[in-house]
Amino acid sequence: MEKSYQKLLDSNKQWVAKQLELDPTYFETLAKGQSPEYLWIGCSDSRVPANEVTGTRPGEIFVHRNIANMVVHTDMNMLSVLSYAVEVLKVKHIIVCGHYGCGGVIAAMGNKQFGLIDNWLRHLKDVYRMHSDELEAIEDIKARENRFVELNVQEQVTDLCKTSIVQNAWRNNQPLHVHGWVYDIADGIIQDLDVSYRQASDLEKIYQFKL
Ligand code: CO
Repeated sequence: MEKSYQKLLDSNKQWVAKQLELDPTYFETLAKGQSPEYLWIGCSDSRVPANEVTGTRPGEIFVHRNIANMVVHTDMNMLSVLSYAVEVLKVKHIIVCGHYGCGGVIAAMGNKQFGLIDNWLRHLKDVYRMHSDELEAIEDIKARENRFVELNVQEQVTDLCKTSIVQNAWRNNQPLHVHGWVYDIADGIIQDLDVSYRQASDLEKIYQFKL
């Protein structure tokens, strides 16, 4: 059996050699610590690697990825990443980046069962329900999928801002911007959806926390 994974280990050695050639202290410097300016919340899709598509290097982006770039407020994994990024690393920007052609988003639009993942996709169905009038008015299925991807990013951005973690940062005058982006797998371009929030008062009143 061919060891297809061997090429990853070989590439790693080549990569290390190349970095050291460019800067002999590269790993030494990185080993001292990280102070990334950005938190990226993206999809697990193998075609949307945070560093590559943004031209950033190790140390520049703190990353959390899951299926369909969701911000589920009972997800301890997401909350822990968010808390560490905002409260300890003090990132200045949080980017929720969705992508067109997202398998999770497309699956959530249908009625087929996929197993355990259906429970995760339920969160997407809730987003669909909130925007069903707009979505169902779009006859072209591809266009409807794309709009659902955008609306999902918008809702995840809003859900991030509803967390006490983000609101406390704002109330403490910590510079923190939350952005919603969408990546197009077909051309590699990222579009800013302009759904950024900067303060708790941008949220509906019921979600606003007092300090
Ligand atoms: Co996806």
